[in-house]
Amino acid sequence: MRDEIYKDETDISKFTFNQKVVDVFDDMVLRSVPGYKQMIELIGLAGRTYPIKNSNIYDLGCSTGAATLSIASNLRLESVKIFSIDNSQEMLDQCSKNLSSIEANIQYICDDINHIHFENASLIVLNLTLQFISPEKRLDLIKRIYDSLLPEGALIISEKIIHENEEINKSLVSLHESFKKENGYSDTEIAQKRRAIEDVLIPESINQHLERFQKVGFQRSLVQMQCLNFASFISIK
Ligand SMILES: C[S@@+](CC[C@H](N)C(=O)[O-])C[C@H]1O[C@@H](n2cnc3c(N)ncnc32)[C@H](O)[C@@H]1O
Repeated sequence: MRDEIYKDETDISKFTFNQKVVDVFDDMVLRSVPGYKQMIELIGLAGRTYPIKNSNIYDLGCSTGAATLSIASNLRLESVKIFSIDNSQEMLDQCSKNLSSIEANIQYICDDINHIHFENASLIVLNLTLQFISPEKRLDLIKRIYDSLLPEGALIISEKIIHENEEINKSLVSLHESFKKENGYSDTEIAQKRRAIEDVLIPESINQHLERFQKVGFQRSLVQMQCLNFASFISIK
């Protein structure tokens, strides 16, 4: 269904992942996130490369299941278990519906990822999810993820990013707005979405992410893709 949530002037309330968003999510993310398809493809590539026999894969903030689907379609090992986790029951219901015909060992969990115990992991993905976790909780989450990864296991994180140089950042924001306009969003929709999401989605810079990865123990981290003000990082234990 086409995303028209902010089409008319409305009373803007804080953005949440409710049924209204679930219904349009796939369209919203494709028209709002430059490089989204490529991000998902790279996650599939990781699903082919990093899983180890009898290990676990976690898709944290799985939404409607695009990353889980990409991993499951590329996975070569039957003994690997996938945990698709989201704290929105509406999202999780849609995710399990979308993946109902996929032959993989997938467990759907509705919970806050800050409360989940991760273990025996070979691949952990947060695709556009960390940005919704309050900044003071991010270090602890990434540390727990690092601790749960097996040697040579991988963490993939994709995020909206800010550039540390104010002028460059302005250019990236303006290019992102042009991207959304090209994809059919009006000025009103763009402005209203910005207001609804500004206290909910807190972006960080590429350096902040890389420093955090290093701080928790990752020796090998890199930006595997950047498209305007969105980036995907991969860290290997
Ligand atoms: C932008 S969406 C992620 C998109 C998805 N990973 C993809 O690749 O299409 C962010 C998701 O994170 C979930 N989320 C946000 N905070 C969460 C938390 N603390 N615990 C679990 N899920 C969370 C939201 O419900 C939402 O479905």
